[in-house]
Amino acid sequence: MSAHPQEPQQSSGPARKPVTPPMLAEMKAAGQPIVMVTAYDHPSAQIVEEEGVDVVLVGDSAAMTVLGYDSTVPIGMEEMLMLAAAVRRGLRTPLLVGDLPFGSYEGSNEQAVASAQRFVKEAGCDAIKLERGGASVDRARAIAEAGIPVMGHVGLTPQTATALGGFKAQGKTSEQAAQIASEALALQEAGCFAIVFEAVPAAITEAIMPLMRVPVIGIGAGPATDGQVLVFHDLVGLSAGRSPKFVKRFAEGRAELVRGVSAYAREVREGTFPAAEHIYSVDPAELAAFNEWLEGATSDEGTFSHADWDWGP
Ligand code: KIV
Repeated sequence: MSAHPQEPQQSSGPARKPVTPPMLAEMKAAGQPIVMVTAYDHPSAQIVEEEGVDVVLVGDSAAMTVLGYDSTVPIGMEEMLMLAAAVRRGLRTPLLVGDLPFGSYEGSNEQAVASAQRFVKEAGCDAIKLERGGASVDRARAIAEAGIPVMGHVGLTPQTATALGGFKAQGKTSEQAAQIASEALALQEAGCFAIVFEAVPAAITEAIMPLMRVPVIGIGAGPATDGQVLVFHDLVGLSAGRSPKFVKRFAEGRAELVRGVSAYAREVREGTFPAAEHIYSVDPAELAAFNEWLEGATSDEGTFSHADWDWGP
């Protein structure tokens, strides 16, 4: 791999202004769809920067997509901060949102503010996201009052999926739908600048939308929202196994990577890689001189004969 430092690149055309929460409110007012995507590392951050995405979420879905956990619950602050900092280094324009991991904000408003501040100070995030209504409403208010923009998340909230009966659509009963609406309104009142609706029937989202003053970003919530978010690995086809119903694979990234690794392994085994264009040349005179030196160095009286090595402790 080339490990040369790379500047974030922007698509050609006029430089875009960094996206802010007020700009997202303007986009909602103008009926301009908001494009949000997750990212967990520097190369994916560069790609979403180049493609002009509006909001980038370093989601705790990283637990499953890049760290191999079974759910989003085990991921911790240190892991999230490392990923968020890598994403920050690849971004200039989109609003960068860090996802507060399970256990980093529920305990108290003080804990929530301290964790949110770490995302801003240590990883350079512009905003944070937290899940659910209930006690999270107070946490969201405290973080917003501390000057950090907060995004809410209702419907299917993966950190508490067990309590919700698993990874399944929420709001299919009128009672559940009323809960989603109440939580979204409470988070809006608490000062959230935007709210994610996850796995909510399209008709329920549509019914709630007229009540929402802040942008609503949907994932499996139908077309009535102000924008859409998908997990990077899902949309580029890097995820293996089954995907939720709401995922559309816009590329077959995994198949392409498999093709690449397989071709590399084959060529190494066949001896066709590296080829002439991948090797460095040396001046023949320098090579001859080196070979002469090598001959002397490896002879019995040579400067580097085995016996001369210092084997002591
Ligand atoms: O962690 C995540 O990726 C998320 C999105 C699905 C909104 O919370």
